[in-house]
Amino acid sequence: MAIESSRLKFYEYKKVEENLKPELFRGLRETPKHISPKFFYDKSGSQLFDEITKLQEYYPTEKEISILRDHINEICGIIGENSALIEYGGANLRKISIILDHCKGIAYYIPIDISTIYMQSSVNQLLNQYDQLSIMAISADFTKPIRIPDIEKFSRRTVLFLGSSIGNFEPDDLLHFLRNAHETVETGDCLIIGADLINDPAIINRAYNDSKGVTAAFNLNLITRINRELGSDLSPSLFQHYANFNSEKGRLEMYLKVLENFETNIGGEKIGFRKNELIHTENSYKFTIEGFSHIAEQAGFKVEKVWTDDEKYYSVFIIVK
Ligand code: AVI
Repeated sequence: MAIESSRLKFYEYKKVEENLKPELFRGLRETPKHISPKFFYDKSGSQLFDEITKLQEYYPTEKEISILRDHINEICGIIGENSALIEYGGANLRKISIILDHCKGIAYYIPIDISTIYMQSSVNQLLNQYDQLSIMAISADFTKPIRIPDIEKFSRRTVLFLGSSIGNFEPDDLLHFLRNAHETVETGDCLIIGADLINDPAIINRAYNDSKGVTAAFNLNLITRINRELGSDLSPSLFQHYANFNSEKGRLEMYLKVLENFETNIGGEKIGFRKNELIHTENSYKFTIEGFSHIAEQAGFKVEKVWTDDEKYYSVFIIVK
């Protein structure tokens, strides 16, 4: 489906939404049970994620914003004139505003996100705020290859992939994603990528076990989504948020812990849950500068620059084809 106005083209790849239900169901029937993190982002999940990014304990957002601010002139130089800015997982208003406020050469902004509702509201705000900007919003699952509809020829395209969303890919999938991106862009085009770094496990654990319980609510919102999508009647009180950094694997692991034994009907099938069973909901990989550089190079990119914040908690990479 496409909605068009003079400055907005909105593409919603409906087929993607239709594929979500079987995937969700399959994960609950497997042992161990798992739910892909892309199911977090329904309307309430997207709002809760927005709240997470404002938490003092969730340092990646503030650190990334400080790096973008510190290097904004260089970023504008990379983006150039009459250019298209493509953003995967797009339209976090605080971050994109920093770039749009400063880099006047952006003719087209192309956010790609799985949450249509989240993107619709941010896109409307951006159209009001930036009266010279045209937007092509694409609602799609960017873990799968995406066809970006043809637009006018731009001097260059820059791809933004912020928030350390690369950390939510498994290593092989990350390499695959970067290889796809390498095929999509042209020689000389840049990707600006945020990557959370491996640091003190206590700091990472605090970021995913915040004192206000927002991350717990974000994780438990999956139960509400399962009920809605698969017609079940699970009580969120039967589950508990569990998040812990696995130093050996270099990743924060998030689970829903089952609090008692029970059996219930989900999608027309009886599914059993065991007390203390862990349902895997997310891996958030953390990187070393050498480690991510190596992956980017394996995908065919050259690492042009790496910036970190003063405490070296977080990094922003500029990689070029
Ligand atoms: C979107 N993504 C990079 C976040 C992360 O840190 O892995 C999602 C998140 N999960 C819990 N808190 C934030």
